[in-house]
Amino acid sequence: MKIAVGSDHGGFEFKQLITDFLHGLGLTVEDVGCYSLDSVDYPDFADQVCLKVQNNECDRGILVCGTGIGMSISANRHRDIRAALCHEAFTARMSREHNNANVLCLGGRVIGPEIALDIVRTWVETEFAGGRHQRRLDKLS
Ligand code: RB5
Repeated sequence: MKIAVGSDHGGFEFKQLITDFLHGLGLTVEDVGCYSLDSVDYPDFADQVCLKVQNNECDRGILVCGTGIGMSISANRHRDIRAALCHEAFTARMSREHNNANVLCLGGRVIGPEIALDIVRTWVETEFAGGRHQRRLDKLS
């Protein structure tokens, strides 16, 4: 699986942590930035990650900002992107099983690193359940 990751300055440190973690799981990571703690604008990075998922260059995306809210608002403006802002593993799992979320958003100033990696592991390992949930997704388009 190939995962695009992006963050603003509020999520930069988590993005680095998540990138290392994904590599440790044997996954391929494409990092669109940002690359420092300098202040940047989250929509620029949400756009880049979503484009890679829309183009099938990457299977899924992970976006981190301070709260995760800006990233989720930005990502969900893109066609065929289903972005889920998660603060714990249960909603991360449900976002995959029921919503087939293809982008995960996290708040680098909201949760701790262990919770973040628990969410990421759950989210990358959980498959979409299909069935009635696909019918509901079809109504989103
Ligand atoms: C940046 O200060 C902050 O506003 C951003 O990371 C994010 O939390 C926005 O939703």
